[in-house]
Amino acid sequence: MMCTHFLIEKLYATHDLEVESLKKIIDECGDDRKYDRLMDLALRTREIYYEKKVYLRALLEFTNYCDNNCFYCGIRRDNKTISRYRLSIEEIKMCCGRAYSLGYRTFVLQGGEDRFFSTDLLSDLLQTLKKHYPDAAVTLSIGELRKESYQQLFHSGADRYLLRQEAFCPAIYHKLHPDMSFENRIRCLYDLKEIGYQTGAGFIVGLPGQDSLQLAKELKFIKSLDADMVGIGPLIVHPQTPLKNFKNGSVRKTFILLALIRLLLPQALIPISTAVNTLEKRGWEMGLMSGANVLMPVISPEIMRKNYEIYTGKNNVDVSKLENIKKRIQTAGFTTDMSRGDRYHFKGEKR
Ligand code: 5AD
Repeated sequence: MMCTHFLIEKLYATHDLEVESLKKIIDECGDDRKYDRLMDLALRTREIYYEKKVYLRALLEFTNYCDNNCFYCGIRRDNKTISRYRLSIEEIKMCCGRAYSLGYRTFVLQGGEDRFFSTDLLSDLLQTLKKHYPDAAVTLSIGELRKESYQQLFHSGADRYLLRQEAFCPAIYHKLHPDMSFENRIRCLYDLKEIGYQTGAGFIVGLPGQDSLQLAKELKFIKSLDADMVGIGPLIVHPQTPLKNFKNGSVRKTFILLALIRLLLPQALIPISTAVNTLEKRGWEMGLMSGANVLMPVISPEIMRKNYEIYTGKNNVDVSKLENIKKRIQTAGFTTDMSRGDRYHFKGEKR
């Protein structure tokens, strides 16, 4: 087996590695010299395509009703201790309008799997948003749907879709996601790609049963999917979930994985997750230094945010604090870019 230093250089040069080699890097980057070199190369790689730009997305958590019962998630079906809310279509439009006038050109509509929002209802919403804000991109993050629904939403104007695979391993996946199917989740991701969405995958760092070999497999899956966006973040245990006695995921490991993702997929759009920002005070700065290039400030109405605690103490960044956000990005040595921020050279000829 080649030495880790050499493997890191090889990954930088070729943008791919065997699972075993990725695992070795994950295992050995506890060492500061290797870690620093990895970060250095990830930063250089992001600059080839995205220079120092950081894209901003306005994130709207529009419903916390959810049919699913994921073991880690605070808005899981069986958590009876939170109050459930859903925004009306009018409220969603208002929030997007507010984000637009602040300068945001991507709206991310995220929610639990809430059947109230039918495909037809969302199609109408998308068409209105696209009519009013033709130069803005809309990203959906609303879970698993049939292919026909994904198609309809795409034709109504959705540009991007976030659906983390969470765990690329049937056994781990089925343990943590009762009543859900690993095969269906992967099917969804390939459907989204095929339809023409800029597609986001990703996983939680520190799930039970996840070792470094498993993490390497997550990376290989993301590479083989050619994900346009990749969202990862450390597990933050939520007291009202079956994982309540588990421990939080490692922030340092998250940065190592962010850097590896950047090297595997040089053109990917990689956000710094709110989870990183919650566990690490300098989460943004460190995330940007690991190759991330997207931030997602939250635009949900203040009174609803406490009920969107997918994990405890969720440290949101508010969309309206734009000047602070820009200043912080600048201080870290980067520049804020308020354009749509599509994947570099995305050939999403659509409609
Ligand atoms: N800790 C960290 N991430 C979580 N997510 C859900 N619950 C948690 C948690 N407790 C992530 C999932 C989901 C994304 C929106 O949030 O990966 O896809």
